[in-house]
Amino acid sequence: MSRVAYVNGAYVAQRDASVNVEDRGYQFADGIYEVVHLYGGRMVDAGLHMDRLERSLREVRIAMPMTRPALLHVMAEVARRNRVTEGLLYMQVTRGVARREHVFPRQGVPPAIVVTARRTPPFPRDLDSWATSAITHPDERWARCDIKSVGLLANVLAKQAAREQGAAEAILIDRDGMVTEGGSTSVWIVDTEGALRTRPLGHSILPGCTRASLRTLMEGEGIAMHEAPFSEAELRAAREVFLTSATSFVRPITALDGAPVGDGRVGPVAGRLFGMFSRHVMGNLSNAA
Ligand code: PDD
Repeated sequence: MSRVAYVNGAYVAQRDASVNVEDRGYQFADGIYEVVHLYGGRMVDAGLHMDRLERSLREVRIAMPMTRPALLHVMAEVARRNRVTEGLLYMQVTRGVARREHVFPRQGVPPAIVVTARRTPPFPRDLDSWATSAITHPDERWARCDIKSVGLLANVLAKQAAREQGAAEAILIDRDGMVTEGGSTSVWIVDTEGALRTRPLGHSILPGCTRASLRTLMEGEGIAMHEAPFSEAELRAAREVFLTSATSFVRPITALDGAPVGDGRVGPVAGRLFGMFSRHVMGNLSNAA
């Protein structure tokens, strides 16, 4: 079955789909994207992803291409037409098509939108085999990483460096020696005192929807989480390191730059949070937007 994409108002065969060479996303990375996990045919944390999409668009002054309910309908329809019940939805909105000039196009140029869906391997059951390795890498991105911009060149280079060293993620270190986040994930540690820490929100990290969702789940279970920055040295000394994202869920890091994290095995905190998040994904799907 050939894949179907939604492109600027039409559902088209993905192999025939194209965007204009003067799409500002293509020329300037002048656009915003979202990645939403699909499980059991439903979108996980759809409301959080829609909130973040609207916020990112507002920050860069691109209009929503359609209302939220209409967009959710298109996303569900792309999933349905591709017969994807477990996988991911990718959506990007750019400032549209205009003759190449840095400043915004004149009023009335509509934003351009693309939505695609693809299957992913089944949700992990065994956390030991889901655990993976990471490298550290300098954070060479721009100063507004809270905006989910399609301008991902620094992330691409960092993640490629990880791949070339046999690791799955690059954990980014800022100029002050502090951990920001992963190339496409939020980063958490359990420090030497046993405190669960992740960097506070701000311009230097993306506000992860999985992070936000876990936070709510943890509040429900009375698990304390500290939004406190941590250094590269604290990362290396941590008892546990794990990542979260729409595609990583909760993913333990058991080796960092080739050295074991803690005792080199999946830790109890990552295990507990993975269990909580799995139940959230499988049982209590939040489809409210
Ligand atoms: N990445 N930080 C960065 C830089 C990210 O790109 C992502 C998501 C996250 C986690 O956000 P969330 O929990 O909402 O997925 C943190 C997506 C999955 C991607 O680019 O493929």
